[in-house]
Amino acid sequence: MGESATTAANSVCLTGLTAHVWPCTARLEADGDISVGGLRLSALAARYGTPAYILDEADIRARCRAYADALPGTEIAYAAKAFLCRAMAGWIAEEGLSLDVCSAGELAVARSVGFPADRILLHGNAKTPDDLQAAIDYGVGRVVIDSAPEIIRLAALSRRRQRVLIRVTPGIDAQAHPAVATGMEDQKFGFSLASGDAAGAVGNVLAHPELELAGLHCHIGSQLTRPQAFELATARLVRLMAAVRDRYGMTLPELNLGGGHAVPYVAGDEPFSLAGFADRISRVVKAECAAHRLPLPRLTVEPGRAIVSRAMVTLYRVLAVKHVPGVRTFVAVDGGMSDNPRPALYGARYTVRALHPPGAALERVTVAGRHCEAGDVLAVDVPLPAATRPGDLLVVPGTGAYNHSMASNYNMVGRPPVIAVRHRAARLLVRRETDEDLLLRDVGV
Ligand code: LLP
Repeated sequence: MGESATTAANSVCLTGLTAHVWPCTARLEADGDISVGGLRLSALAARYGTPAYILDEADIRARCRAYADALPGTEIAYAAKAFLCRAMAGWIAEEGLSLDVCSAGELAVARSVGFPADRILLHGNAKTPDDLQAAIDYGVGRVVIDSAPEIIRLAALSRRRQRVLIRVTPGIDAQAHPAVATGMEDQKFGFSLASGDAAGAVGNVLAHPELELAGLHCHIGSQLTRPQAFELATARLVRLMAAVRDRYGMTLPELNLGGGHAVPYVAGDEPFSLAGFADRISRVVKAECAAHRLPLPRLTVEPGRAIVSRAMVTLYRVLAVKHVPGVRTFVAVDGGMSDNPRPALYGARYTVRALHPPGAALERVTVAGRHCEAGDVLAVDVPLPAATRPGDLLVVPGTGAYNHSMASNYNMVGRPPVIAVRHRAARLLVRRETDEDLLLRDVGV
């Protein structure tokens, strides 16, 4: 978040909550309940059941505006993989952002709300024929080319000249978790800069008159806090743009720097400074372009997590408390790795809070899910009231990114609903998945 925007977005938060991990409208009530969008979480749990994802529309919109303010003239393309539903696509469209989709399915959601096609980018290291066809049918603004066969496939499908970007691997280790580190050579995305593959892809695209090369793209990883890796990637891509100009006599108008901007999950997490990023990237682009006598390209960034992570909290109800003497206390809830696989997948840490009256004695506990494996743990060693009992409500903030979108039906558990809150009103955006839903796909009896 840009410094001023961060302050503006968080200044409404009351003390008692670690402001930066909660939605901007979160309030700690006197009785220990928490309200979001003017509604008490306990009331939302009573109305919609648990587990439930609660989404603060005002927070999403504030983050979109903070990006637009911090990066004037830069295209902000929300990465839909972080969280997408039709209402979300509508808000992103209304806020004037672009949309990064990576499948025909994500595109179908965008299409269902009439998201402007020219503001959509299609990504993917292995786009299926259906993905490409859907993009052509809807007329998406840009397809980000990620492999040589895709150039041939896309050219064959194109009905009008299709604008494309080339995804470049800049050879940078941005110190991301191995599952989301995408800047180095040894991973599946993009064309290697060092090996000359990226330059080769440029020539390959230019040989297809059905394709119009608009620029270069890179995405070097996720949950990155330091701007240095972005600076290095930017400099390397501008140099490739200069090489393209020298070799083919064409000036590429666009430079897309991907997403990956970190968000805090627990107190003490290193923040990502959007203002610092904006300042340093614009300096690097200006310096490198001046050095290579290139005009300034139009920049694009693709934040996903940074737009949506803090807007959502997940509500759970405690089902069991188990004291294992001399070992630990497990507090088991009615959700788990099916609604939030990130702790199990990436060792991700989350804040957990009980909706208890303030001042209760605290105990360090492990919050476990309901699924049939020992690794189904949502948070280890988090302080919760020692008096926590079955029936109590727990809330986990910062679940907006890659929770609902990566949710599963493990153990045939239906996925939770998504409920938007705004101005004291709640709106069901995605309903809870029922047993009937789960049986609908099972057509083989
Ligand atoms: N652009 C591209 C091309 C991407 O592949 C991604 C994320 C983004 C933008 C947005 O990145 P963000 O700003 O959200 O970090 N499931 C993992 C994250 C996977 C990210 C994949 N690509 C997680 O839960 O941490």
